[in-house]
Amino acid sequence: MLVECRDVIVYFGGLPALKDVNIAVNEGEIRAIIGPNGAGKTTLFNVINGVIKPSSGRVFLLGTDVTGKPPHEIARLGISRTLQIPRLFKELTVFENVYVGTLYGAKSSTHSEIMDMLKALRLEEKAGVKAGLLNLQERKKVELARALASKPKLLLIDEYMSGLTPGEISESIKILRMLREKLGLTILWVEHVISAVAQLADRVTVLNQGHYRLARVRLSPSLDQTAPARQLFSKR
Ligand SMILES: Nc1ncnc2c1ncn2[C@@H]1O[C@H](COP(=O)(O)OP(=O)(O)O)[C@@H](O)[C@H]1O
Ligand SMILES: [Mg+2]
Repeated sequence: MLVECRDVIVYFGGLPALKDVNIAVNEGEIRAIIGPNGAGKTTLFNVINGVIKPSSGRVFLLGTDVTGKPPHEIARLGISRTLQIPRLFKELTVFENVYVGTLYGAKSSTHSEIMDMLKALRLEEKAGVKAGLLNLQERKKVELARALASKPKLLLIDEYMSGLTPGEISESIKILRMLREKLGLTILWVEHVISAVAQLADRVTVLNQGHYRLARVRLSPSLDQTAPARQLFSKR
């Protein structure tokens, strides 16, 4: 088990954002988390990487209890994340933005490892370009490369596909699959684009109003991504 949340509860003021969430993700797994806006998906990420301390419950990383540890300590144990909305240093180049990622986390990539990563993401020609000049897909790739520059074991990805074109989504699916295979990454992946989830996720957890359910995916590459989740997943 790479990461496990046990009976996690988060209250904001008097309102629960997560209610008794139990999730266990195996090493090498791609686990998708789906659910409507406000379901608690980003809050769950914040609990796992230490930004929010749960009101109760525990978080384990590779069997070690990391509940309540600060984000920089958790990053050093090998957890990295991309944000729902990419936040890059606009005045720094693509390479420099990715380099920033080597300053955090478990390990750090060398100059040539960063260039290899940019090549794998088909971003090497933009290495010297300022991040402020990039389109959305390129900014998302830079965020991904930055998150990977610390060589994490677990990558938390928040809504990577939203805003991308169908062609960009297909390319992103290939990229995430390649990263899992090449780097042996475990990926916890919040996503609204259901067709992408169906193509890539090993298992799916549905969060709704802070409650969770493990769903069985009916794998079909031709899924209508606008179909409501209840049509795509069978209850356990
Ligand atoms: N820092 C915060 N303070 C207060 N309420 C918050 C905070 N973060 C999230 N919430 C609330 O918690 C609930 C879950 O939010 P969030 O985890 O962002 O949902 P999702 O990512 O699934 O859209 C929402 O009702 C949201 O308004
Ligand atoms: Mg969110």
